[in-house]
Amino acid sequence: MLNLAHHKISAAAKCFDAKRLMAFSLGDTRVMVTCNPDVAKEILNSSVFADRPVKESAYSLMFNRAIGFAPYGVYWRTLRRIAATHLFCPKQISFTEAQRSDIASQMRSIIACRGGTGEISVRDILKKASLNNMMCSVFGIKYQLGSSNTETEQLSQLVEEGYDLLGKLNWSDHLPWLAGLDLQKIRIRCTQLVPKVNKFVSRIIQQHKLQPETTNHDFVHVLLSLTGPDRLSDNDMIAVLWEMIFRGTDTVAVLIEWILARMVLHPEIQSRVQAELDEVVGKSRALMESDIQSMVYLQAVVKEVLRLHPPGPLLSWARLAITDATIDGYHVPAGTTAMVNMWAITRDPEIWVDPLKFMPERFVSKDSSTDVEFSVLGSDLRLAPFGSGRRTCPGKTLGLATVNFWVGSLLHEFEWVQSDANPVDLTERLRLSCEMANPLKVKVQPRRR
Ligand code: HEM
Repeated sequence: MLNLAHHKISAAAKCFDAKRLMAFSLGDTRVMVTCNPDVAKEILNSSVFADRPVKESAYSLMFNRAIGFAPYGVYWRTLRRIAATHLFCPKQISFTEAQRSDIASQMRSIIACRGGTGEISVRDILKKASLNNMMCSVFGIKYQLGSSNTETEQLSQLVEEGYDLLGKLNWSDHLPWLAGLDLQKIRIRCTQLVPKVNKFVSRIIQQHKLQPETTNHDFVHVLLSLTGPDRLSDNDMIAVLWEMIFRGTDTVAVLIEWILARMVLHPEIQSRVQAELDEVVGKSRALMESDIQSMVYLQAVVKEVLRLHPPGPLLSWARLAITDATIDGYHVPAGTTAMVNMWAITRDPEIWVDPLKFMPERFVSKDSSTDVEFSVLGSDLRLAPFGSGRRTCPGKTLGLATVNFWVGSLLHEFEWVQSDANPVDLTERLRLSCEMANPLKVKVQPRRR
């Protein structure tokens, strides 16, 4: 399960002719995994697999009180309802449109400035843009992308540390007799991280409590305005807010880096997106979010990158069987961990024509005017990068809106060109998300001037 587990699981499933369902044990943990969309649907959409396996680091980092790791039950359902009705509803997403646009314009200025002198690395810019975006949505705090300040530096270190801890395979999760030893130093690092996160987020909650009358729509204000059974304790609020920063930052940045890498590798596809941008938007003004719905080809490009480079190739976090179940005709005992290898499904030649070929056209109708109505939001398990069923990603619409808009904006403004010294390398590195092992280095040329 170390280093690119999705590749190894896929190879093993092929070797044993067990693509539909394969079982193995990981220490004491009974695991099953599918590389088949029908079986994936059966698992993800079944009420039996609505729980997550217990992960020591997640519990130590308070994530059991946030949506992603909360055990299936009343508390988790309340959080999901709050998320759906208050945090990710269309009204809330549209409140933050101006902020996404402002950050896009800051990104364009920084890239124009740095790109003038030759090759640039985009990862840091994207990560910082994404963190600033989440800081603004969640805490209502705005930072300038170009200037460094201790608060964002501190938060990005906290996020990186949490990311590293959650992404690690912790042996004591699967070999309980090792638990007392903390050989990988995961427990001690979690214990050091939690008070820092508590202090950081508590201070922001207290500041918000001192200014209750406000027109702000950030998540802290939304959660503080809830009453009755929906009102969360301060500690639970910290867990939920911290998880939002944590989940919303990296996934978006990682995906955009893959998209830009593909655009550099396939200049003819990049030109086609730019031709669409010029037709829908023109060159005299900047892209607006409302333009995106007319941009069929741009959306197809994003889908095609989600297909070849899903940020969560094993759908990030596994599921746990609450009771005994029958899956694909096999008896599955309660307590079994289930995984879906989305990466293997999206590269399967029995499911996709020329699966390794980068071909956004597969998501566009023959006359290029409309898409082929393929939703990536979880209804079709041939490509479900946000998961599916009860525990599907609650931030998917926001995540997709941000990615479509920022990518459109960056392609509208610049032509992205391969660096001779550092050609694009599509090697993957799997942490909590699957990112480029060698950060993208590119040259840019302004297009709108
Ligand atoms: C490109 C962006 C994103 C991708 C690819 C992504 C992917 C995923 C995946 C695969 C899961 C597991 C789903 C399952 O088990 O069926 C998940 C869960 C989750 N995601 Fe996302 N995500 C993205 C953006 C976001 C954003 C922007 C947020 C919030 C700000 C977010 C918050 C969450 C949470 C809270 C869960 C746990 C849900 C639960 O267990 O009930 N994600 N995401």
